[in-house]
Amino acid sequence: MTPLSFDVLRRFLRRRAGLAIAVSRHDLLESRMLPVIQRLGLETIDSLAEAVINGADPEVERAVIEAAVTSETLFFRDRTPFEQFRQLLRQLHETRAQQRHIRIWSAACSTGQEAYSLAMILDEEARLFAGWRLEIVATDISHANLETAQLGYFNQFEVQRGLPVALLLRYFTQQGDSWRVSEHLRRRISFEHFNLLDDPAKLGPFDIIFCRNILIYFDVESRKQVLERMSRTLRRGGVLALGASETVLGVTQTLVPNPDYPAFLSTAEDVPAARRRQFVLVS
Ligand SMILES: C[S@@+](CC[C@H](N)C(=O)[O-])C[C@H]1O[C@@H](n2cnc3c(N)ncnc32)[C@H](O)[C@@H]1O
Repeated sequence: MTPLSFDVLRRFLRRRAGLAIAVSRHDLLESRMLPVIQRLGLETIDSLAEAVINGADPEVERAVIEAAVTSETLFFRDRTPFEQFRQLLRQLHETRAQQRHIRIWSAACSTGQEAYSLAMILDEEARLFAGWRLEIVATDISHANLETAQLGYFNQFEVQRGLPVALLLRYFTQQGDSWRVSEHLRRRISFEHFNLLDDPAKLGPFDIIFCRNILIYFDVESRKQVLERMSRTLRRGGVLALGASETVLGVTQTLVPNPDYPAFLSTAEDVPAARRRQFVLVS
């Protein structure tokens, strides 16, 4: 791949998916694009870059994005946000008692483990919410990931990552080498294609957003735009969780750490100045 082709693909991924590929990641991008040229019957990555410049073929653009994304995920990733999610639900049971309606968004859901983890907790808490509408919307830019998520089949390796055996036995059935999520859980989630660069107003409003382990791949300007738009889709008292290595520090001031649920952020207007936790900068 020539430096020019690398630059074309990098710029395209930045513009269309928000993905900021470092100049030093030439090898990574090349290894991800090799299967794409084979699949599309192209000779070289340079011809792929040329097709991207021409821009006429949505199949080419889609294939480049699908191949460039990092889809790493697991059930109950980092545990704490999910434990606090359960506590938040109990709090929402009080604060949303009038509406009896809670909306949750798993943004950048990958192959669905995050959304199914949330659905299992909702199901465990279901007795508290008889007669309520509990919605989970799960979105991703990758059609392939969404299809996998929607089908709900996971292999032995995947179900061994983060999923307690008791929940595996309760919510999955073994089918050959795979485990399939129960229809009951699958029906709880509506999977939709959504690019985080677009305005989420049409998906919202939400009480809880999980936007985890995706903004690390974005540059600061895109992170700011995504988070500020998301904060506008939060209902009053709504919260948002980022990944363990992600922060709003230096990105936006519209979201601040939630003083009661440290794994979550709240809109600045929901947290009185006296209750704001200070960020600690670790050098
Ligand atoms: C590393 S996975 C994170 C999955 C899950 N949130 C977690 O924390 O385990 C990142 C996901 O973000 C998706 N993604 C990348 N760019 C995106 C964009 N612009 N809009 C929506 N999803 C995107 C990828 O397809 C991938 O499924």
